[in-house]
Amino acid sequence: MKEKTIILETPRLLLQTWTEDDLESLYALYQHPDTLKFYHNKPLTLPQAQRLLNELIEHQKKHGFSLWACQLKLTQQIIGFAGFMTLEDNLGIDLGYHFTRLVWGQGFATEAAKHCLNYGFNNLSFERVLAMTNPNNQASKRVLIKIGMIFQKQIIYKNKPFDLYQIDKNYPG
Ligand SMILES: CC(C)(COP(=O)(O)OP(=O)(O)OC[C@H]1O[C@@H](n2cnc3c(N)ncnc32)[C@H](O)[C@@H]1OP(=O)(O)O)[C@@H](O)C(=O)NCCC(=O)NCCS
Repeated sequence: MKEKTIILETPRLLLQTWTEDDLESLYALYQHPDTLKFYHNKPLTLPQAQRLLNELIEHQKKHGFSLWACQLKLTQQIIGFAGFMTLEDNLGIDLGYHFTRLVWGQGFATEAAKHCLNYGFNNLSFERVLAMTNPNNQASKRVLIKIGMIFQKQIIYKNKPFDLYQIDKNYPG
């Protein structure tokens, strides 16, 4: 067992760093078609999940933050992830989240994202956080609005259209 670091705690979740032992958990998050609708389209293969896991571990090492594994306190299962990644071209810090289909609609994304924002502003000294979502991803947009992020404009990122949301430390929504 590799050592995990708990980054932050919410009422129902522990957000922690990924380790090499988490491959199956990460892989499982990308199998249900509903969870893939707005990006990968096809279930992730194990090698793809391994590459993503490596990327998340490396991002944590390099930047001190990443998309953290969300462990349900009740069962100790990893049910999703939430946190931050750096965007290309120095665009800024992107808030992201993803939860297993089984737990949708129970407020987990909102709970995790809200605590991530607080952590980002208070512990990581972020001044501004962005979030990009597929314009048709109504659940994701609802989460962003619930945590106080404000729609800015539609943008093209990596040749795909996104709705861009923003929240500033000093001017929270
Ligand atoms: C987006 C996602 C993380 C939301 O997770 P969740 O735990 O179900 O989110 P919450 O329960 O905190 O909130 C979801 C909100 O969206 C609403 N919602 C869900 N589907 C909706 C739809 N089709 N249209 C409008 N609102 C919708 C819910 O009613 C809820 O709002 P409410 O509390 O006002 O009722 C989840 O759907 C997911 O993992 N999707 C796949 C990955 C993904 O798209 N990530 C975002 C990439 S930008």
